[in-house]
Amino acid sequence: MKISIIGTGYVGLVTGTCFADLGNNVICLDTNESIIEGLSKAKIPFYEPGLEDLIKTNLDRGNIRFTSSYEDAISFAETIFICVGTPEDDKGSADLSFIQDVVIKISDNIKDKDRHLTVFIKSTVPSGTCSSVQDKFDELLQHSQSKVVVASNPEFLKEGSAVADFMKPDRIIVGTDDSNVSKLAERLYRPVNWKSNRLKVVSVEAAEIIKYSANAFLATKISFINEIAKLCDAVGADIAEVRTGVGLDPRIGNHFLYSGLGFGGSCFPKDVRALINTFTENSIDTEILKAVIEVNDNQLDYFISKIYSIYTPKELKKKTLCVWGLSFKPETDDIRESLGLKFINSISRQVKHINAYDPVAMTKAKESLSNIDNITFSKDSTEALEGADALVITTEWREFWNPDLEYLKVLKDQIIFDGRNILDKKLLEENEFSYFGIGR
Ligand code: UDX
Repeated sequence: MKISIIGTGYVGLVTGTCFADLGNNVICLDTNESIIEGLSKAKIPFYEPGLEDLIKTNLDRGNIRFTSSYEDAISFAETIFICVGTPEDDKGSADLSFIQDVVIKISDNIKDKDRHLTVFIKSTVPSGTCSSVQDKFDELLQHSQSKVVVASNPEFLKEGSAVADFMKPDRIIVGTDDSNVSKLAERLYRPVNWKSNRLKVVSVEAAEIIKYSANAFLATKISFINEIAKLCDAVGADIAEVRTGVGLDPRIGNHFLYSGLGFGGSCFPKDVRALINTFTENSIDTEILKAVIEVNDNQLDYFISKIYSIYTPKELKKKTLCVWGLSFKPETDDIRESLGLKFINSISRQVKHINAYDPVAMTKAKESLSNIDNITFSKDSTEALEGADALVITTEWREFWNPDLEYLKVLKDQIIFDGRNILDKKLLEENEFSYFGIGR
């Protein structure tokens, strides 16, 4: 099939590339010409494992190309996926202006022709958006022979494993009441769905709510376990043992029950806040979601209070902290709402110096932290330890899980604050380190 993807962020690029790899002909459009120039040479503007190679393979096969021209992308398409961003506006709701622009651009490029197009909205949008986008298309095309049918097809891709998530989905949600659209979706997703049959057709409104509730529920699990971790700290229990015991109940499960610095990234914080606003717009109160955000917002302060329980402000001012991890989670260079960066921004004035290291997010982090003058970006994790008094772990990259104890001994105070609970506390304590996790 001929598919055009509008927007080449994580979602658009992964979706377009994977559809191309499944044998479709794909055009990915982005208005940013320098991104398009890079993508045409298989250079992606972010780090996502496996994606660059897959783009290269499909560029070589001629299955995918990149453009900034709406005329090109819309005249080509049998089906369109809208994958533009819906960033948070100043009230905490989803800003739909990129979607609105795309609707106008698509209409402008089909109104003089006789076209019938299905447009799937993959961007995360509040309930009611697909229906209002449908109304807008109907209005813009009222004097034309062309017709657009809008459907919802939310994404559930995790950064760092987005290609695998697309190719082996746990669910494919299609929001439509049009049987031709559901048949089209079944055809498009058949190669990744035929074994497991996880495609569910629901109403447009339900599809929109599924996306937000899935993210909000996962965020709730995280805030819940972070609250339980505080109780573990208070009574001397280990949150890892508690998680295992709780997670063995299949009704609960052990996923997303890892306590730490809280959730970051481009989705959870923004989507939970947007969902709270959708509740408010519908005159419904949501105590749970507000508490999820509140617990998450307080989690960094809780962690920092552990540092102050060891060092007085005066002592801390003389200390160099080694910080491992700047991306919001491992296997990505995405620093949006990264707790590592928030930690540095919050502590930098209270310490003498920071040695920071991240396996892939250094470039983006340097730019974001350019206002901080007492920071050095180290070339690797061991260099970052040199001259440091204590280690702070803020992202659970694989290479941080089992550090050489001899290297760790360069820490002048032999203290580790583990914001992701990844190190072996017992082993460290046996080797005379002081270890502080969250809930252990
Ligand atoms: C999320 C959803 O998982 C995905 O389905 C959706 O499509 C996009 O948003 P992503 O933002 O890539 O994906 O990251 P995810 O792996 O969900 O982690 C989000 C945040 O939660 C990270 O900051 C992570 O460190 C934190 N987290 C996750 C925890 O603190 N504890 C956990 O147990 C799991």
